[in-house]
Amino acid sequence: MTDVAMLDKQITGLESLEFGAARIRVDDKKIINCRADLNQLVPFKYEWSWDKYLKACANHWMPTEINMSADIALWKNPNDLTLDEREIIERNLGFFSTADSLVANNLVLAVYRHITNPECRQYLLRQAFEEALHTHAYQYVIESLGMDEAKIFNMYREIPAVSTKAAWALTYTESLSDPNFTTGTPENDQRLLRDLIAFYVIFEGIFFYVGFTQVLSMGRRNKMVGTAEQFQYILRDESMHLNFGIDVINQIKIENPHLWTLSFQEEIINMIKAGVELEYQYAIDTMPRGILGLNASMFKEYLQFIANRRFLQIGLSEQYPGVTNPFPWMSEMIDLKKEKNFFETRVTEYQTGGALMWEEEDHK
Ligand SMILES: [Fe+2]
Ligand SMILES: [Fe+2]
Repeated sequence: MTDVAMLDKQITGLESLEFGAARIRVDDKKIINCRADLNQLVPFKYEWSWDKYLKACANHWMPTEINMSADIALWKNPNDLTLDEREIIERNLGFFSTADSLVANNLVLAVYRHITNPECRQYLLRQAFEEALHTHAYQYVIESLGMDEAKIFNMYREIPAVSTKAAWALTYTESLSDPNFTTGTPENDQRLLRDLIAFYVIFEGIFFYVGFTQVLSMGRRNKMVGTAEQFQYILRDESMHLNFGIDVINQIKIENPHLWTLSFQEEIINMIKAGVELEYQYAIDTMPRGILGLNASMFKEYLQFIANRRFLQIGLSEQYPGVTNPFPWMSEMIDLKKEKNFFETRVTEYQTGGALMWEEEDHK
């Protein structure tokens, strides 16, 4: 292949082997548009990515470890929860049960192919598995509570408050998942960056927060404690997904400063602001009357507070001056360094050998 033809072709890791080719050097590695072999994890260039992969593995958990019996008793008793509380649980399960599949599909069908770095891909593979665990967790809660599964899993196609955010995110992944799409031009590289910001910073970094706060605040009041514990584990994972995404976005900016133009920054600011509005609408739709000491206007401030942090995290200035955090307890839950009591109750040993039982009949 000539050099010109090589430049046109994006490296994926599935190219023919170059036997005896020069060994990979750290300097050969790049987050996007890398020309070096993608099947060699080392030498590490992005230690932060490998580090997050190791931390994510150390945080392993399974939805089935969490005791759901108190929730089942509460959910089955018609007097123990108000209609508004039930609706909040159902709507959030409706949103999250399909949202995590959407995130996983964006990762494996759109983002993965274009991130041309093995240590980042290693984390993406772990993240994809965690998204599968999250979908499993929501399915497990829905099944445990004996909910109408079709009703919950179809909410993102039947309830506007649930569908709007998913539909918004899909517009950013569509072009990237096109098999003919490749990075390598400023326009297409910006498209990838836009998708990363839409999914990591807005979808996982803003669109999850009203639902997480609602369900976790129920748990703090001793209601739906098993469901809340599932959400706590998920929030811990999501917080690392967000931090990984921010590191990737910032590294792409460092390696490709020409992408971060003033007009692109303006576009990103407006995109994040639009995300805040959509999530605020979700707060109003899921909580029209206020509940558990929460109301929609508190969420407006909370979302603006979170968005200010997101702006700073990707090198933009705060857009909502003077807002404070109305839910400081959420920050404690997000802080990964604080091992809280609920983590002590979990099973920490996994059956890695016991589960290996082969169906002999299949081989006959
Ligand atoms: Fe997730
Ligand atoms: Fe995630």
